[in-house]
Parts: sequence; structure tokens; C-alpha cells
Amino acid sequence: MMNHPAASSSRRVLLGISGGIAAYKACELTRLLVKAGHQVQVAMTDAATRFVGPLTLQALSGRPVALDSWHPLRASGMDHIDLVREADAFVVAPATADLLARAACGLGDDLLATLLLARDAVPTLLAPAMNRAMWAHPAVQRNAEQLRRDGVRLAGPGSGEQACGEVGDGRMLEPEQLLWEIEALWRPRLLQGRRVVLTAGPTFEPWDAVRGLSNRSSGKMGWALARAAWEAGAQVVLVAGPTALEPPHGVRTVPVETAQQMRDAVLAELELAATDLFIGAAAVADWRPQPAAEGKLKKTAGGEPPVPRLLLNPDILAEVAALPHGPYCVGFAAEAEQLLANAQAKRERKGVELLVANLGPQTFGRDDNACLLIDSTGAREFPRMSKLELARRLIEEIAARLAARG
Ligand code: C5P
Repeated sequence: MMNHPAASSSRRVLLGISGGIAAYKACELTRLLVKAGHQVQVAMTDAATRFVGPLTLQALSGRPVALDSWHPLRASGMDHIDLVREADAFVVAPATADLLARAACGLGDDLLATLLLARDAVPTLLAPAMNRAMWAHPAVQRNAEQLRRDGVRLAGPGSGEQACGEVGDGRMLEPEQLLWEIEALWRPRLLQGRRVVLTAGPTFEPWDAVRGLSNRSSGKMGWALARAAWEAGAQVVLVAGPTALEPPHGVRTVPVETAQQMRDAVLAELELAATDLFIGAAAVADWRPQPAAEGKLKKTAGGEPPVPRLLLNPDILAEVAALPHGPYCVGFAAEAEQLLANAQAKRERKGVELLVANLGPQTFGRDDNACLLIDSTGAREFPRMSKLELARRLIEEIAARLAARG
């Protein structure tokens, strides 16, 4: 999974925990939120304290945990109002079937339920977690629908193996996925209703059965762009070369290996549905070795080393940019020197609207990056920052240009 550089701005999260086995994952969520630079105030139901100790959450959040209205943390004695007024987001993870029912009915029978009543305009996200039959029950579905109508965001549940041994829908999203969902609450929905296809990572061009040509691209910049576009409300398809990264949450990932496969996958996606934006962030191998004979090339004693013959790969970005009525195209250029001049020439050669130019050796594999954003009117410099922060800034720039195009 990706590292989390400290968030550009620290936010206050009120984290409610209700009583389900997934409560243990709320510990990890607290840790991730704190690591990302946010302040966390935990509020637990009585049942939640049967699963994890409040002291654990106090230690992880650095704050006493709010447990009931009769022993308030705030001097006002008004925890059920003050804790949610102080928050930039209100998250309940896990949200049990019982919690959903109480929230949907507007009960105030414990502190957490009362906080949900008092939430007002605070962005609120519930992460349901329960057995698959409980989640499928019409009463639970009714409550979930009611909560959505009341303006609450439901994140998940995911699907898979459950603590009870059954398999199906009802698993709480993973803490990392919830972190993405929470941070998305604060992002402007600049790409709402837009479809984005992007390429990321390296390609691997096989020579024989075991060897091949690739490069040092980690995929981190493309992953950050996929996340930033998803946060902005876009429907995102990530055509990804081989990397060590987990498929990003909320994004449809199409794994490929070679440049040819990447090209075919991109064109198939563009055929599939109207696409507003194409971002070529992949480090596509310019050449591929002509495939050697079947199997593995053998080293023969005293024999000459074999020399691969290289063939030119398709230029995916140039091909997409040349499509009639194609999407708005953004390319990346990893240069080794003469950044501005080389990148300006590349933008024109590829026929793309926008080109993001960075210095290859100073970006590959790192969690931060700096770049020049080049369009027909000139260049704008973005200083070194986390790839996620940079991706968010780039998405803002791109969304403004898309909006101007209509
Ligand atoms: O490798 P190059 O500097 O030409 O890459 C510039 C841009 O073109 C990048 O956005 C990259 O994703 C894209 N590209 C491509 N297909 C290639 C080579 C590069 O889409 N064969």
C-alpha cells in the first residue's frame, strides 16, 4: 500500500465506534488518520467497549474517549452537541445494524446516537459492518436507504469472508479504504459526472519466457492521480502496468503487462463509454524486444551473448490524442535534462493539450514530486510536494480547463 504523506491541512474527525467485531479495525483507522495529520476524537457505544478497550483508542488518538452523556469530557457538559460541532467530519466505523436502525429512526438512546441527531451540516460517513444475511435484511436495507436520503454517506460494505465464516456483502471497508473515503469528504467534486481513463506504471516487454525489458516507474504518481480524480467525483478506469501497489479503492483497475496490451485496453475503454479525460501517466517502454524462440534463451559455453532486436512500440498517448472527438488529453514527460524545452517540444509532437513535465531520476519510486505544467499558453511550476497533493493540484487545473471547454 502507498505511504501517507502528512495531509496538507489537518482536520478534526469525530470517530464513532459501535459494537461489532470490526471495531478492532477502528484502531487501525485511528492510527491512519493520526498518521495522515488529522485530529481524532473517539466516541464509543457501550457495546463497542466489549470488543476493544477505550484505553487503546485513547492511546492511539491521544485523547480521552467519549463514552456516555453522564460523564462528559467537555466542561459545558454538552458532549452530545460540542463533539460534533468541533468536527470537520463525523465517521461511524463500524456501523452495526442496530446503530443504522437507531440513526434512521432518530433515536437518542446513547451518546453516539444523540451525536448523530445533532450532526447538523457536518459531513457524515457510516461504514456498515455485519453478517451478510443481516445486511441483506429488508429492514437494514430500508434503514440504509433512509440514511442516504437524510444526507449521510454510506461507505461499503465490502464483500468477502466474514468473521462468522460466511462469505458475502457486509464486511466493513478496510481502514485504508475508509481513510480515502473520509479525505474525499473534504474535496470539491470538480469532476462529478466525468469519466476518466488513465494509464500508470511501467510496461514489461518480454524477450523470452523469463526475461524482458522494463523501467523503474513505481506507478505512485498515476495511483495518486487516480485517487485525486476519484475524490473529485469522477468515474475512473486505471489501466495499470505491473507495480507493487494494491488496486486503488473506488477505481476500476485493468491490469496489463505490455505496451501493446495497454494500448488495446485503453482503446477498448474509450470505445466502451464516452470519456472526458485521458491521462497518460504510464512510463510506456518505447521499444520491445523481438520475441525470442519459445522457452528460455540458453547460455552456451563460449558462445556469443545474444543481442535482442528492438521493435518500436505504439505511442498510446499520441494515438488517443489523434482520435476524432477524443477525450481531453494530458501527458507526462519524464526528462533527464532541459525540462522546459524538451517538454514543450513533446507536447506539440504528441498533439496533447496539457503536458506534465518532471525530472525522471527525481520522481521514479519517490513519494514526492515537482513538475512543470505546460499548455499552449506557457508553463506553470509546481514545487516539490507529496504526489497525492500534487495530483490534487493537477486535477484542479485539469478540471478548470475541462469546465472551460464545456
Ligand atoms: O516516453 P515519453 O516521454 O514519450 O512519454 C510521454 C507521454 O507519452 C507519457 O504521458 C506516456 O504515458 C505517453 N506514452 C505513451 N505511449 C508510448 C510512450 C509514451 O502513451 N509508447
